[in-house]
Amino acid sequence: MMIVTTCGNSIGIARKLASQLNAKYSPLTIASFPDGDAYLRFNIELKDQTVVIVQSFQPHPDMSFFDILFAAETAKDLGAKRVVLVAPYLAYMRQDVRFHPGECVSSRVMAKLLSSSVDRIITIDTHLHRYKSLREIFKISAQNLTANNILADYIQRKVKDPVIIGPDGESYQWAESIAQRINAEVTVLEKTRLSSRHVEVKVKKQVPLKGRNVVIVDDIISTGHTMIEAAKEALKANAKSVVGIGVHGLFVENAIVKMKKAGFSSIVTTNTIENSTSAIDVSQLLLTELRKE
Ligand code: R5P
Repeated sequence: MMIVTTCGNSIGIARKLASQLNAKYSPLTIASFPDGDAYLRFNIELKDQTVVIVQSFQPHPDMSFFDILFAAETAKDLGAKRVVLVAPYLAYMRQDVRFHPGECVSSRVMAKLLSSSVDRIITIDTHLHRYKSLREIFKISAQNLTANNILADYIQRKVKDPVIIGPDGESYQWAESIAQRINAEVTVLEKTRLSSRHVEVKVKKQVPLKGRNVVIVDDIISTGHTMIEAAKEALKANAKSVVGIGVHGLFVENAIVKMKKAGFSSIVTTNTIENSTSAIDVSQLLLTELRKE
């Protein structure tokens, strides 16, 4: 028997997965004591069950991480046979190297702690840049699924004759695969990150954008600056419209407002982080993997 639970994020996905898998859906009770310590409680018998914790690391990455660790350890303590973590958005992956002396390589620490608490992790389009695969940091079974095909299908349905732009070198992986699936032109820009809130982008390979519907695709939209700088280039080249599509919509510091002001005609993400832009559902992707449990 499978039990699907969540610590409060990804409720929509958790419910869908439970219903499609004929599993019991039972969210954890999450609260905090007056001093701020976390309080968690399972509301269902877990003995000999497979427990699937569905929890994105946004909003509140630190709290989500702690909640997952507490939940996984408690599930084992209560006799669960197996604990699977479905983290549609996995945080900390961008800190994959010590950029400056003394820094914490948080992705490694996160993976080490999760590897000791859960038996398997499934995530979607996690930020793999310097790591080639999750196996470099996780000691457990770890799957990184991709939403490329569902993003491509969405673009094909909604945007007429699109040109795909990847805003930086790393984005070639998804920009090119999306463009290939829908037979669209593609160009990848060159980005220099000057700080967390300041990026510069340059066009490397010119494709004609005048009068075209441009779709900028990225894995993460955080402050929105990467998207905004890429949109400026498209608008400078007289694009007819600019759509911003991200897998994970973090949208910190009023990013949506800033992006709209910069001229985006629409901003769309998947529901790996559930918010007002989540028009693309990733549940089916996850279901295929969970059916193997
Ligand atoms: C980083 O390289 C990622 O692929 C994204 O481009 C980045 O996380 C976007 O961040 P922001 O929205 O803050 O520019």
